[in-house]
Amino acid sequence: MKVLVVGSGGREHALVEKLIQSPRVKKIFCAPGNAGIAQHAECVPINADDIARLLLFVEEKGIDLTVVGPEVPLSLGIVDAFKQKKFAIFGPDKKSAQLEASKAFAKRLMKKYAIATARYESFTDSAAAGAYVRSLPAQTRLVVKADGLAGGKGVIICDTTGEALDAIAAIMQKKSFGAAGKEVVIEEFLEGQEASLQLFVDGKNYSLMPAAQDHKRIFDHDAGPNTGGMGAYAPAPLLTDSLTDKVKKTIIEPLIAGFVAEGIHYTGVLYIGLMIHKGIPSVLEFNCRFGDPETQVVLPLLKTDLIEIFEAVHAGRLKTADIQWHHKSAVCVVLAAKGYPGEYAKNAVIDGLDTAVAMKNVAVFHAGTAKNVLGETITAGGRVLGVTGTGSTTGQAITAAYQAVSCISFDGMQFRTDIGKKALS
Ligand code: AMP
Ligand code: GLY
Repeated sequence: MKVLVVGSGGREHALVEKLIQSPRVKKIFCAPGNAGIAQHAECVPINADDIARLLLFVEEKGIDLTVVGPEVPLSLGIVDAFKQKKFAIFGPDKKSAQLEASKAFAKRLMKKYAIATARYESFTDSAAAGAYVRSLPAQTRLVVKADGLAGGKGVIICDTTGEALDAIAAIMQKKSFGAAGKEVVIEEFLEGQEASLQLFVDGKNYSLMPAAQDHKRIFDHDAGPNTGGMGAYAPAPLLTDSLTDKVKKTIIEPLIAGFVAEGIHYTGVLYIGLMIHKGIPSVLEFNCRFGDPETQVVLPLLKTDLIEIFEAVHAGRLKTADIQWHHKSAVCVVLAAKGYPGEYAKNAVIDGLDTAVAMKNVAVFHAGTAKNVLGETITAGGRVLGVTGTGSTTGQAITAAYQAVSCISFDGMQFRTDIGKKALS
């Protein structure tokens, strides 16, 4: 098979590395890819959201399967466009992708199908949003969210109603997140611990991946501003068997029944951001794709050929698919550029990559890298690399990951030193 992977981050590098292990795959292209992906795939300079050019490329090269990493092309309808032309593609269609592309849509669906989530109101009018917030006690903790896609930045946690009013002004009047802020969702603040649960869905059936936990804040002990994710580990012991059963019964099964009732044929990966409080799971968010960095810890644990899973999803036979996972742990430490998650530096030369890659039980996934004219690998994004260690236990995986991290250096490199520690306590 000739496979095209769409996207350019650590998630896509992890997908490419998994796909090359398939005896079914002869050649991989990646659009647009990065310097690490280029070691295994032919990178083509087409942006992930340029659906027209991706279609032309697939036609010209005779691509057998396209796999979409990021949410933007999915929300723009890449799957609908490919299916219309009878090109095989893995991911949900535009209607299904609203689950991530509109938080108000997701909240309405959860309300309708009685799926546990934070209580909320949504508004398209800033004055009405403000009046609602003013009607609450001043010390109410709220979370104000831009409805649309904002690269993970459109969520503002507010400790007082005054902060919530500022957040509404930023989203709806200053339009800090552009068109994503036409509508806001204002919801109650939930206490608890977060977990990321991803599943393959074929329209009616689903198959769970090992649960993971992301580390969203930039500094150790969950301090500092939110980022796209500074590291992850899987499996997350927080999601015990009995809790997983609860998630299936109170979230996944009603949601899939809701899809069917609403005429949504959801196929692909569904990512559920969960908050667990006193043994009760509720939904923080849905994503319509593999999570990043979660994919960098989950896919290294997959035993089954990923192509076979994609085929089972396509054929609607996930129910009988035998998907196997290694009984191991994986920990991914993200190495970020100086300044991240604010404005960050680029073009720093990265040293020690070869030494790290050669280590046992280590994979180095590139997120924001490029090559300079001398052929050196340089930084080209906020999150630069994801260094994944695997082992029989989380402790061993942590050791493997941080041993590899200690080999790598670039100017201003920042990383957390506590990734995976929560799983040990
Ligand atoms: P979201 O993109 O909706 O998952 O929000 C990003 C992050 O904001 C989540 O991972 C949580 O850490 C936090 N968050 C979102 N909604 C809530 C909520 N209702 N209560 C507490 N934290 C939240
Ligand atoms: N790790 C969160 C996300 O992929 O959106």
